[in-house]
Amino acid sequence: METIQLTVDKNVDKEKIYSQAVDLLNQGEVVAFPTETVYGLGAVATNDEAVKKIYEAKGRPSDNPLIVHIGTIEEVTDFVEEIPEKAKTLMERFWPGPLTLIMKAKKDVLAKSVTAGLSTVGLRMPDHEVALTLLRMLKKPVAAPSANRSGKPSPTKAEHVYEDLQGRIPLILDGGTTGIGIESTVIDVTVNPPVILRPGGVTKEMIEKEIGEVIEPTPKEQQLESTPKAPGMKYTHYAPDAPVYLIENNRERIERAIDELKREGHKVALLAPSKFSSTTADYFFPYGEEEDKEQMAAKLYDDLRACDKTDASIILATTTTTEGVGAAIMNRLHKAAGGKWYGTPNTTT
Ligand code: TXA
Ligand code: MG
Repeated sequence: METIQLTVDKNVDKEKIYSQAVDLLNQGEVVAFPTETVYGLGAVATNDEAVKKIYEAKGRPSDNPLIVHIGTIEEVTDFVEEIPEKAKTLMERFWPGPLTLIMKAKKDVLAKSVTAGLSTVGLRMPDHEVALTLLRMLKKPVAAPSANRSGKPSPTKAEHVYEDLQGRIPLILDGGTTGIGIESTVIDVTVNPPVILRPGGVTKEMIEKEIGEVIEPTPKEQQLESTPKAPGMKYTHYAPDAPVYLIENNRERIERAIDELKREGHKVALLAPSKFSSTTADYFFPYGEEEDKEQMAAKLYDDLRACDKTDASIILATTTTTEGVGAAIMNRLHKAAGGKWYGTPNTTT
């Protein structure tokens, strides 16, 4: 299958591009499109055959449910049994935006493979012009996981999608680099207090301001959980080809680690704030300015992917605190590293 990429910007006939995407989706095909978090690979969420094509294209395990994207808040009632009060508050405050709400699904409305056998469904309204226009023209719910091959870092640029899925999907809508860079926060509002199953762009602090206490397991706790509530969180994720090791943001440690590894014959890639550009690492991919977590989130997957284009044999990635969007960053870094540290961490993250 030939994969076509169409750029959606001011200078093109947008109407024609959207119609093409809508037609493909209505025909039961999959289409990749940008959201404010990462690129998604969408199919009509009520068409089981179409949704299966997502799993196939991604190589995704079939027990990992998909998020359903909608274009208006009114549609929620079509897909869920009841909307808890706290969910209403969160939708009004954060939609459109990077927050996925897990609620009790109405029976037999969505395709079986969307919910992967669970009685709940994750819903979100993305905050991106291309995604919203597409959803509102289509007037149907769209199941969409991140548009990467399963296990790889999520795509933050159309070219990442192309790298992973060329020949496997018919169309990629290119809307430039995504703003947030890591996936939406997933929160289970079927329980009280609600539980954050995956930290993301909408932080625990932001949520608690609206609805009071919520529970967010630390990255370590999430790793120790034997049956994670978000099924996707149990798989290796976000991983480049070379092994990733976490390392504290400490110049002396970093320089010593690079020396040791190079002596052992390694080619070292370093992911760290810009101020570490002067180390002797063979490759350096900056996160941006120190303590600018938004910048770090936006760059992380692109940096991890960039490592695959080098002959680095080991990747060192510096960590950050779990405040604000740092919780989401550390969650993804832990997964990318499979929990491995270079040396012993003296932090609790
Ligand atoms: O930002 C995002 O959320 C992106 C964009 C494309 O919207 N999508 C995304 O989807 O990250 P995906 O499939 O890569 O991740 C969905 C996560 C998985 O960890 C999955 O297990 C969890 O949400 N999930 C989905 N439905 C669930 C449910 N009913 N109960 C618990 N977890 C669920
Ligand atoms: Mg994903």
